[in-house]
Amino acid sequence: MSDSIFRKDGTAQGVAKQRLIESLAKPDKRIIYDPYSDKFVLGASIIKLMGHKLSVWLTKKFAPGFHEHLIARTRFIDDLIEKSAANGAEQYVILGAGYDLRAHRLNLSPTLKIFEVDQLEVQLRKRSKLPKNLPNSENVTYVSVDFNHQTLKKQLLNAGFDQNKPTVFTLEGVSQYISKDAIISTLEELAELTQKTSATFYISYVDKLLNENPKACFGKGYSNAPKIAETIKKLSAKVGEPWISFYSAEEIEGLLSQHGFSLIENKSLADLNSVYFTPVGRTLSEDQIFKLEHFVIAKNKSL
Ligand SMILES: C[S@@+](CC[C@H](N)C(=O)[O-])C[C@H]1O[C@@H](n2cnc3c(N)ncnc32)[C@H](O)[C@@H]1O
Repeated sequence: MSDSIFRKDGTAQGVAKQRLIESLAKPDKRIIYDPYSDKFVLGASIIKLMGHKLSVWLTKKFAPGFHEHLIARTRFIDDLIEKSAANGAEQYVILGAGYDLRAHRLNLSPTLKIFEVDQLEVQLRKRSKLPKNLPNSENVTYVSVDFNHQTLKKQLLNAGFDQNKPTVFTLEGVSQYISKDAIISTLEELAELTQKTSATFYISYVDKLLNENPKACFGKGYSNAPKIAETIKKLSAKVGEPWISFYSAEEIEGLLSQHGFSLIENKSLADLNSVYFTPVGRTLSEDQIFKLEHFVIAKNKSL
């Protein structure tokens, strides 16, 4: 790992890069818009010079569907947050927020209180790069937590989390980097924090088939699936953030259920291709479908 370039934020930068690329598309062609992503991406000016089409083409050379997978994930959660806020959620906790700018780029109600949770170093770096006068800044509270070693509950309560208010939690692109014990203790804490209220929880997880049968994690006819699967894992490890945890759908559903959450939706790019990309004329063919990670929405059973 090169400490001088990435300080625990290599993968957070990687996701922000795809949001930057998508934001360069014409308004009627793009799926999400993040006007702040360039602040967090090394080489952003070169990407801006290349533009959307060339940048997507280059990403496709690396792994077809990789860009669309990450963008579909972002859009899926954008939709969830907007819908939850409209349906009465009063708090939004972004777990492992990285360079997520959802708090500022979506037009969220000022009554929705947002907590951003991440490792201290990543959070400090993010805050040092945030543009001045960002919309909705007064509604964001930063809470530093290392899921592997610290408890979320205490830190959130200290930061003003209200256990009586309906809340949405998202853990986007994080579960593969932390231990299963850390996921279990996070779920335990979410269950405790939301005993008295309704809660929605989004989690993405990497399919354990990626190690056992990588071809199953890509569309039919996808070229070099096993090699691409290995390259992605290696690249992540190279920036100091190896993928250490993989799950099956049954395991995730079981973990959620043990902590009082019912799985409501489990999607991947294979399902969202027609929902997001077809309407803007960007449908991916089956041999470009990248579906090694799943997007799950769960709700607590108590209410
Ligand atoms: C791939 S990035 C995703 C960032 C953001 N959710 C997004 O989708 O843009 C993974 C994030 O998980 C955070 N993370 C990894 N391990 C963590 C840990 N042990 N405790 C807290 N956050 C962690 C990283 O700092 C990083 O921001």
